[in-house]
Amino acid sequence: MESVRQVLKMADLIPVIEKAMGDFSKGEEGGVVQPMRAVVPVKEHKGILYAMPAYSATSGALVTKLLTRFQDRDKIPVTGPRTTVCYFDHTNGDLKSIMDGEVITSMRTAAASAVATKYLAPKGPKILCILGAGRQARSHYQALHQICSFQEVKVWNRTLSRAQEFAAEYNSTVCETAQEAAKDADVIVTVTMSPTPILEHSWVKQGAHVNCVGACRPDWQEVSSELMQKSVVYVDSREAAMKESGDVLISKAEIYAEIGDLVNGTKEAFRDKTTVFTSIGMAVEDVVSAKLVYDKYVEQGE
Ligand SMILES: NC(=O)c1ccc[n+]([C@@H]2O[C@H](COP(=O)([O-])OP(=O)(O)OC[C@H]3O[C@@H](n4cnc5c(N)ncnc54)[C@H](OP(=O)(O)O)[C@@H]3O)[C@@H](O)[C@H]2O)c1
Repeated sequence: MESVRQVLKMADLIPVIEKAMGDFSKGEEGGVVQPMRAVVPVKEHKGILYAMPAYSATSGALVTKLLTRFQDRDKIPVTGPRTTVCYFDHTNGDLKSIMDGEVITSMRTAAASAVATKYLAPKGPKILCILGAGRQARSHYQALHQICSFQEVKVWNRTLSRAQEFAAEYNSTVCETAQEAAKDADVIVTVTMSPTPILEHSWVKQGAHVNCVGACRPDWQEVSSELMQKSVVYVDSREAAMKESGDVLISKAEIYAEIGDLVNGTKEAFRDKTTVFTSIGMAVEDVVSAKLVYDKYVEQGE
């Protein structure tokens, strides 16, 4: 994990993810082959196994990521890696590297939100709100500061002590309720494993941009149906969101565009309206991130 962290830098990653999102939304012309991910529920233990393969012709990289996500993490001691990336030679299929995927997942997800925020945040955003205080909260703090100069960051978490730990690590104000944290925020990030909404429409300032990252299961909703229905909704992959996003499926909100459409200039970025980016996470993001890591290692002669 540390060796990936040492070579993968957010400033390098964000433009690479931006290009990958654009390539993906170009369809065949973009050279991305990304089947829907395989999802294996482990119901008895509130868990799930994902297999996420993809190929990017323009990057020249072929990758599969395998990961597990289990709720109630406190009850399940971590005894081994839960996310692994297999990096193949795209010219002959040789397995070139097996990398820890935890850092890649955290960073590429936050980088995708940073791309969405770059296009959709209101001009001159001052207040960032983070709901959640886990790995994604940390990577989003870092990624969004690459895009915006916030004057204040407000954080809320289900377990207050974890929000306090977060605030001690990252300069932010702890809020006791999600409503208080969301108040007046220009950019909001939801990065929890909550299966029911933690963010209501009436708490969100008109014109704010919301990155919804946590609810990537069809029966989970992280933000209210009213917020989804009254916002302009963007996704990373329309196909994946229509199959896996509870926020989209339960609210029946209309998807306006993919973020890649904004990168390609084929759809409008409504900065003045309240916007939601529903992130499911795309395998092509892992592909281009793993290539960055692999190339840096080769460059260093390792
Ligand atoms: N869209 C994507 O591409 C993508 C990529 C990776 C991860 N994710 C999703 O992002 C979410 C966060 O991931 P992570 O890596 O940051 O996980 P993490 O480090 O385990 O943190 C989990 C966070 O969720 C909170 N939480 C758990 N159950 C909750 C509940 N019922 N109500 C409210 N908050 C709850 C936890 O609060 P406590 O401290 O109180 O436990 C903690 O803040 C997960 O749902 C994960 O599947 C999405």
